Amino acid sequence: MTSFDTAEIIDRGSAVALHGDDGGVLRFHAVWLRDNARDAETRSPGNGQKLITIGDIPADTRVVSAAFAGGRLTVTFAPEQKTVDFSVSWLAAHAYDRDPSPPRGRLADGVDIWRAGLDLAAATADFDAAHRDRRVLRDWLDHIRRRGFAILTGGPVESGALARVAALFGYVRETNYGRWFDVRSEINPTNLAYTGLGLQAHTDNPYRDPVPTLQILYCLENSAEGGDSVIVDGFAAALRLREEAPAAFDLLSKYCARFEYAGAAGVRLRARRPMIELAPDGELIGVRFNNRSAAPFVDIPYDDMAGYYDAYRRLGAIIDDPQMAVAFKLSPGECFIVDNTRVLHARAGYSGAGTRWLQGCYADRDGLLSTLAALDEEVVEAAE
Ligand code: FE2
Repeated sequence: MTSFDTAEIIDRGSAVALHGDDGGVLRFHAVWLRDNARDAETRSPGNGQKLITIGDIPADTRVVSAAFAGGRLTVTFAPEQKTVDFSVSWLAAHAYDRDPSPPRGRLADGVDIWRAGLDLAAATADFDAAHRDRRVLRDWLDHIRRRGFAILTGGPVESGALARVAALFGYVRETNYGRWFDVRSEINPTNLAYTGLGLQAHTDNPYRDPVPTLQILYCLENSAEGGDSVIVDGFAAALRLREEAPAAFDLLSKYCARFEYAGAAGVRLRARRPMIELAPDGELIGVRFNNRSAAPFVDIPYDDMAGYYDAYRRLGAIIDDPQMAVAFKLSPGECFIVDNTRVLHARAGYSGAGTRWLQGCYADRDGLLSTLAALDEEVVEAAE
């Protein structure tokens, strides 16, 4: 819809229909418009926070007049006899009058799924450039938002440098593994990550709730034979499962799995979440997959358990399919970041005379998205 030309009060004032010049219609409820009024009594002009509660809006709120002028919609509400206006562009950006039944497993706007052909060069930025140039940082963060993954090269080869990567957009999330942790072979490891074994593609720490939403893995040494990093888009895997076996997708999204870590003294982390997580409206919002951390599943009815295991096996086979995987080998001073609610990472086994030493840490995606949104405004304003 390019623009609106008429506002029509409908349903005895309980809603307003905006008619576009292309014939389209967007409806807004009176109570919604009242709740989202942009005036200084409804929202603080300073911080934008709402000053009223739902109880402050009369239950019988209705629109008694609605008119367009100069790109703005002016609305008067009864019984308050309150008049406010909205910019038409704001209304268009916040329209909700759309298809009420989106498919289960739909992707959020701006999310791009990928398979083996992911362009690694496009996913990569330079450490110093990301610190120095706001546009480079913006594009790098946007790649993470869209594809759940990015690489940074040319960083310092020093312990703790990964915290400087997190500081580009937010904060390290400290856990029982520390502010960050060393990923290298250990004698008597507290976690199989700290061995030379290959690791199936997984998301980290599914036994936490909330799960760490970002993970950074930073390379300090990588002279061992093997040890390549591998990533898989869990959203692409989930949607492939939905395409090939819709009933399997339903089972993995309908029932909670259980995850647990109890590998160290004083730690008993447990979580109960589905392997494929959907929002109530069907949006695909998370994948949890980690064979090492799976606890006994006890939330699936007897009659569905066999089918659930078939679905789990099938999702595992998709995740293990080389057509889904992107492999690369980090050099010292390079790191990658994954959206841990979506992208799985794996490691090929390694051995031999050399050393493989990575450091890992967690961070929060909401902070990254916040920084990205603020940068987006900054870059747009700079261009104006
Ligand atoms: Fe991991």
